[in-house]
Amino acid sequence: MTNKGAAWVAIGVFAVLAIGIAAWMWMDRVGDEAAAPSTTTSNNQPSASNLNQTEDIVAAEGTTVDIMNGEFVTPNVKIKKGDTVTWTNSDNIEHSVVADDSGNTGGLPTDVQMFGPGETFSVTFSKAGKFNYHCVPHTGMRGTVEVTE
Ligand code: CO
Repeated sequence: MTNKGAAWVAIGVFAVLAIGIAAWMWMDRVGDEAAAPSTTTSNNQPSASNLNQTEDIVAAEGTTVDIMNGEFVTPNVKIKKGDTVTWTNSDNIEHSVVADDSGNTGGLPTDVQMFGPGETFSVTFSKAGKFNYHCVPHTGMRGTVEVTE
């Protein structure tokens, strides 16, 4: 085979590879688009108290505070008025979320509502302010939710 012939074979192989990769990427992109709606739906968690506020359902992503090894993993969160915070118990014991100040709860409970391993607890905040909370019976577990307008 001449050098020229070998060069044409190389170009042919390269072209087939390029078309193959382009087709594969295009199919992958189409697959992602098809999967996207279900991902969006699973993140949308409207609660009974914000069903009347349609603009907030669209804007509210929902904030999650994980509980692990006897700690609120992200103890200080900032959210917008109307947003929901969901605490997820990824620990192997029960925990609770209780307002520090019963006169300024922002919607946090003032009574002890224990939730166990794998369970979640949600509060929708409809008032701006800074709301401190703790876990009963673990007084060292503390957190703050800052709600802006
Ligand atoms: Co606790």
